[in-house]
Amino acid sequence: MEEDVLKKYEKAGKIARSAVMEGIGMVKPGAKLLDVARRVESRILEAGAGLAFPANVSLNADAAHDTPAYDDERVFGEKDVVKVDAGAHVDGYIGDTAVCVDLSGERSGLVEASEAALEAAIAAIRPGGNTVEIGGIIEAEIRKKGFKPVENLTGHRVEQYSLHAGGEIPNVKRGAKTVFEEDHVYAIEPFATEGGGSVVEGSYVEIFGFEGKVPVRMRESRRLMTFVENNYKTLPFAERWLRKEFKSKLLLESALRELVLSGAFKQYPVLTDIEKGVVSQAEHTILIEKDGAKVLTK
Ligand code: CO
Repeated sequence: MEEDVLKKYEKAGKIARSAVMEGIGMVKPGAKLLDVARRVESRILEAGAGLAFPANVSLNADAAHDTPAYDDERVFGEKDVVKVDAGAHVDGYIGDTAVCVDLSGERSGLVEASEAALEAAIAAIRPGGNTVEIGGIIEAEIRKKGFKPVENLTGHRVEQYSLHAGGEIPNVKRGAKTVFEEDHVYAIEPFATEGGGSVVEGSYVEIFGFEGKVPVRMRESRRLMTFVENNYKTLPFAERWLRKEFKSKLLLESALRELVLSGAFKQYPVLTDIEKGVVSQAEHTILIEKDGAKVLTK
């Protein structure tokens, strides 16, 4: 990897990790989810990076893709298991990382299962290895601790301005096999659950992504499409971020609806364990070097 590209990945990784750690430090019973997400995002921006996607703050059976709404009043409960997942980018080079905290202290085994799986995966990854082999290592670590891996969530390769650039790393020992190559960058994110072992899409949607320009009827929709293309490119964004661009919530909602229906925007609904079992997650972004993985988000 070119020296200047590596430096950008390292900078993004460091910023993402420290922002997530600061957010995790604010996760206490009674604290607002919105305050955590906003703090994480402002730390990333203040440090001179861009937001690779909205800060995810997902509770209990929700594995991912929950980010607070603009006027979200939700607070953490005494026994919540909280995943904070955030991404920073420098010139499009992304660091994506997540930490899980168990507020009751009754589910430390569940939290440790995804952490141990992440550690084992990072230790085993090398050029010439493959995604299914690493999926098997993740699955074994999670099962050893008495939990199920979430079989339909995966880690993923990242490339410049591309958060999910193929090369999926499963949480189980099956699926499409991608061989690891030197210089490739991956986000590895094992998910462990007390529930059914797969996730389904819920009805809450706050995160969207730009898919491509299409003709739309409303002037507000055209304006929003241009704004998103110019500001976020292909990276996911939150409805919350757009509120200040619109006179009213209703105008924004109708523009978003038209853009989703026309295929210009994609939705990222909250992903919830199929049996509503509690889910844990741990994540780092790594660079594959000649002898193994280098953690970029530390
Ligand atoms: Co992530």
